[in-house]
Amino acid sequence: MKHRAVKRRSVVVGIGATAGAAAVGGITLTAQAGGRTGGASSASDALVFDEDGYTTLTTTVTDAAGDGHEVTYRFWKAITYVTEPVDEKYQSLNISVPVRIDGKAVDATGAPILFANSVGGYMPASVADATGVGGGAMGGGTGGSAAPSAPAAPSASSSSSDTESGSSAQLSGGKMVSLPQLGLAAGYVVVEPGARGRTLKNSEGEYYGTAPAAVVDLKAAVRYLRANKGRVPGDVDRIFSTGTSAGGALSALLGASGDSPIYDKYLKEIGAADASDAIFATGAWCPITDLEHADGAYEWCWGTNKLSTGKQVDQTVSRELRSQFAEYQAGRKLRGLGGYGTLTARNYDEYLLTTYLRPSATTYLAALSETDRKTYLAKNTFLRWDGEKATFTWTGFLTHVGARKKDAPAFDLFPLPTDTSDTMTGDINNEFGLGTAPFRHFTLYSLRKDRGNSARPASDIPEKLRLMNPMYHLVDKPNPGRTRHWWIRLGTADSDTSLTVSANLAAAADQLGDDVNHLYYWDAGHGANEDAGDFIAWIAKTSGYKAA
Ligand code: DHB
Repeated sequence: MKHRAVKRRSVVVGIGATAGAAAVGGITLTAQAGGRTGGASSASDALVFDEDGYTTLTTTVTDAAGDGHEVTYRFWKAITYVTEPVDEKYQSLNISVPVRIDGKAVDATGAPILFANSVGGYMPASVADATGVGGGAMGGGTGGSAAPSAPAAPSASSSSSDTESGSSAQLSGGKMVSLPQLGLAAGYVVVEPGARGRTLKNSEGEYYGTAPAAVVDLKAAVRYLRANKGRVPGDVDRIFSTGTSAGGALSALLGASGDSPIYDKYLKEIGAADASDAIFATGAWCPITDLEHADGAYEWCWGTNKLSTGKQVDQTVSRELRSQFAEYQAGRKLRGLGGYGTLTARNYDEYLLTTYLRPSATTYLAALSETDRKTYLAKNTFLRWDGEKATFTWTGFLTHVGARKKDAPAFDLFPLPTDTSDTMTGDINNEFGLGTAPFRHFTLYSLRKDRGNSARPASDIPEKLRLMNPMYHLVDKPNPGRTRHWWIRLGTADSDTSLTVSANLAAAADQLGDDVNHLYYWDAGHGANEDAGDFIAWIAKTSGYKAA
């Protein structure tokens, strides 16, 4: 099964840019054509970064503190990062390098690289048509207003209903934030990779962007940068990956799976550079990950909450899944952060409360004015405030969050959806699609509910699950090539997945001795990023970078 879906685009490298850039495009294309039959060395030759192939742009970036900065930067556009692209529109990246910030020359030669994917919903993400840093997601307060107790963050349906996502914007207190723009204004090199996604289909009706395409593409993009060490601006040994939701999941996976050989055959197939794909640090916001265990985790977390329609989900299904979570969590043998004991289905509520939720509410309330705090407390009586700390029960918290976003099961739907024009229903079934099958099961539970107790999973599914799950690289087979630095964030009102998912990711990394910075944003919904400035500062601190 190997039908290429190459949509050869006229936009390859720096089109509309300088004569030099156009020439680069020509060279790259020629080299790619040669690379089709060539071996590893010709592939690497074709992936030589053209240092002169940029245009110079100027933009104004509002930083996390609200101050404006004029940034002049070099912009390399739509560089195809593999020699055998399946679809160049997605398998290309943009690079932005600051040269002048607020009138002062900057040298980003040794700066950390912010590697920001814009994947949402496991959909395809392209940066090929972007006109500057931040892709289609220009910052500057275009978001709707998000009242603290009524999260209005972009939902899966609103962020991913287009044919592709192409946006790395996140929501902060009702304003859009763009990490690529903030990174640029901080003097970092910004790389924005595109990646194939689950809905891409060729003329024969075959899906060519389903698992593991997106992570393979991100790895190939990292390899491109590392293969061009010394040519590409920035420190390729200090790559900080970022992403939100499905993009957060991929960012976590990219970090966990650095240099893992299980991706080699896929990378070879697309002509990825022969270089390391390990990254230095992972930033993951609301990662939709650990997919094959997410249905159980979801019911453990939100099982008793009703849907927004008021409907109670099937309690038999919910109970069965919840008991799977107990078994799963016990089997992981993960210790909680801060010396907490082994995490189980019995103590996880207490763990979330003490480690994340009460501290999150405390931070939130402490930052409010006296009047606003009084108003909040009067409205939210489940919460007690002693002047210093917020306390509440798990049941009180669940009631406060209210409607669960997803029915049961949340991810592996049975029966399988049939309507491919609805790109959100059965999104993860689609992520595990193969060939001409748009939707497939990826858990034994839903498969057997659907097809009976003797049904067996498709033979490739176990491998696909390993390829897609950061927990595999942290718990099942701890990966020496993984990142050692983790920034993980999640809104407390985000019921796109279980609150245990990111907590387990953090616990797994912490257990390996990695540096883990994980907190929850109080009352925030899906896609929130409320401390972008802190993340930008964390990049400098973690990398030890000081601008010259
Ligand atoms: C995303 C959200 C989901 O609820 C999901 O199931 C998969 C992806 C997202 O926003 O990327």
